[in-house]
Amino acid sequence: MKIELRNVWKEYQMGDVTITALKNVSVTFNPGELVSITGPSGSGKTTMLNMIGCVDKPTRGRILLDGRDVTNIPLDRLAHLRLKRFGFVFQRFYLLPTLTALQNVMFPILKAGTPRGDAKRRAEELLESVGMGDRKNHLPHQLSGGEQQRVAIARALANNPDVILADEPTGELDSESGRKVIDLLISLNKKMGKSVIIVTHQEEISNRCRRRIRLKDGRIL
Ligand SMILES: Nc1ncnc2c1ncn2[C@@H]1O[C@H](COP(=O)(O)OP(=O)(O)OP(=O)(O)O)[C@@H](O)[C@H]1O
Ligand SMILES: [Mg+2]
Repeated sequence: MKIELRNVWKEYQMGDVTITALKNVSVTFNPGELVSITGPSGSGKTTMLNMIGCVDKPTRGRILLDGRDVTNIPLDRLAHLRLKRFGFVFQRFYLLPTLTALQNVMFPILKAGTPRGDAKRRAEELLESVGMGDRKNHLPHQLSGGEQQRVAIARALANNPDVILADEPTGELDSESGRKVIDLLISLNKKMGKSVIIVTHQEEISNRCRRRIRLKDGRIL
């Protein structure tokens, strides 16, 4: 999917104080790109991912997905699009603690209206593909951080999205499990042609991405 941010501003109102998290950001992501976003804490990286993934609205500017202007479509009406077209991976995994790995991956598949039997088969395949087939009945707390993140990646792939948005996916991991997670994300780009956008603080991860975007004080450098 082609994603365009055109002159995007994002302001957060905190009482009397206005925080401008994005300042006139214009950027286009073409289908199948592998991109890193780096920048200091508070520079607007997560805010930018939220604009890309239609999690939040810009204060000003426009968002276009495959040329369609979605700026004025309410967020709740974009829920289906988020579910089907985007996969989200977070620093803290956010697996549901009372569900097994398999149930966590099945969750968004069921939510998209897939029958239970098909959802289970699909979730099992996805867990296999991230090397977690033998851990499918584990609860999140029975898995290592790296394993939890691989389950979270399987979940992100649940409805075969075009775009994977990963916000510091290795932030809580040791370097070896972090490398595995990044290898996996890069293989989704190289082998399956998915757009992969990774927010990271680590130079060596950013160096593995063909395109690198740096943010500072809400602007692209
Ligand atoms: N929901 C919110 N309400 C108010 N201010 C916010 C909100 N989210 C972010 N901000 C502010 O907007 C700015 C950009 O935040 P953002 O989370 O995008 O930064 P970041 O680059 O992801 O930082 P980090 O590397 O620490 O995750 C910061 O100054 C932050 O305090
Ligand atoms: Mg952030």
